[in-house]
Amino acid sequence: MNEFWKDEPTISSELEDVGSLIHDAIDRSHSFVRQLLSAQVKTNGKMLRPALVLIGSRLGDPARRDGAKKIASVLEMIHMASLVHDDIIDDARTRRGLPTLYAQAGAKQAVLAGDYLLSRAMALVGGREGDLEASTVSNAFSRLCESELDQDAGQGDFTISANTYMRRIAGKTASLFALSSYAGAAVAKADACAQRKMHRIGYLMGMAFQIQDDILDYDGHAEKLGKEPGRDILNGIPTLPLLAALKKEKVLPVEEQLLHQITAKQKISKRDAAKAVKRVVQLGGLQEAKGIAGKYADRATHDIRSLGHDEVERILLWVFDRLSGRRT
Ligand code: IPE
Ligand code: IPE
Ligand code: MG
Ligand code: MG
Repeated sequence: MNEFWKDEPTISSELEDVGSLIHDAIDRSHSFVRQLLSAQVKTNGKMLRPALVLIGSRLGDPARRDGAKKIASVLEMIHMASLVHDDIIDDARTRRGLPTLYAQAGAKQAVLAGDYLLSRAMALVGGREGDLEASTVSNAFSRLCESELDQDAGQGDFTISANTYMRRIAGKTASLFALSSYAGAAVAKADACAQRKMHRIGYLMGMAFQIQDDILDYDGHAEKLGKEPGRDILNGIPTLPLLAALKKEKVLPVEEQLLHQITAKQKISKRDAAKAVKRVVQLGGLQEAKGIAGKYADRATHDIRSLGHDEVERILLWVFDRLSGRRT
């Protein structure tokens, strides 16, 4: 049973079906890639995106639940493929408490395994499922790739604005959350207003989620997190806690602008990174980022309460509650 969803038995049991669909999709793959992927699929992710599809589908026709499960499996496969590739880009050795596919099999095989997973996902999306167009799915994934490309092209540049950061996370994370949350309602042919609201709720949730993830990179613990914190600054990726701290440091005398000095370096060492992390905390960068994540969550809460569907409202509020205290 999925640990994250254990207190929500109906979602949890539907997620088991989604897990089986993913296994089936992979089972038919080439034996070599199958071994890598089936080990990957067994690792314990939170399955947030497929769960959002299932929750959203409750706003529409219950007879379309199977279509929702299929799309849920597609979105989790796309997410997993993006993580397999992201771990190569970020040189990440652990995820979900286990060695990454990249650490186990090397970059070449991880690229191909990720591609394969994507191709299996795409094979499951027909032209249209309920009100959901296949092109909407591929568009969200294109946005994810564009933002990862943009982030990579700006690697090492810590002078970006908070707006640039927001645009990046909207593409790399919120777009898939928005799609997931919308897709459930669309597949189940919920009314158009509910579909739009779910898209917005997913977007707001994704923004809050990525900001929280970026905070955890500064103050999370490897064991709980299942991935190594402190990677973002080492990888030259500026995130909100750091941008907020840099802004606060600007008003100090130049000789006290330690974070500015570190981030201006060509190559940031592990020692520099550790110092920078401490400095971000000291300057209140995490608090500032938490406040902004909280604002996204507040806006989402407002929208959730206007859905007019008790069960969906209750589950979505519960998800937000769990995510705001997330350590994993
Ligand atoms: C990790 O997403 C990537 C980000 C968008 C931060 P999740 O935290 O949802 O990953 P899993 O699937 O639960 O491991
Ligand atoms: C999210 O960004 C990655 C994708 C959306 C593919 P991160 O790089 O912060 O995710 P983690 O921290 O590796 O899970
Ligand atoms: Mg990463
Ligand atoms: Mg991260």
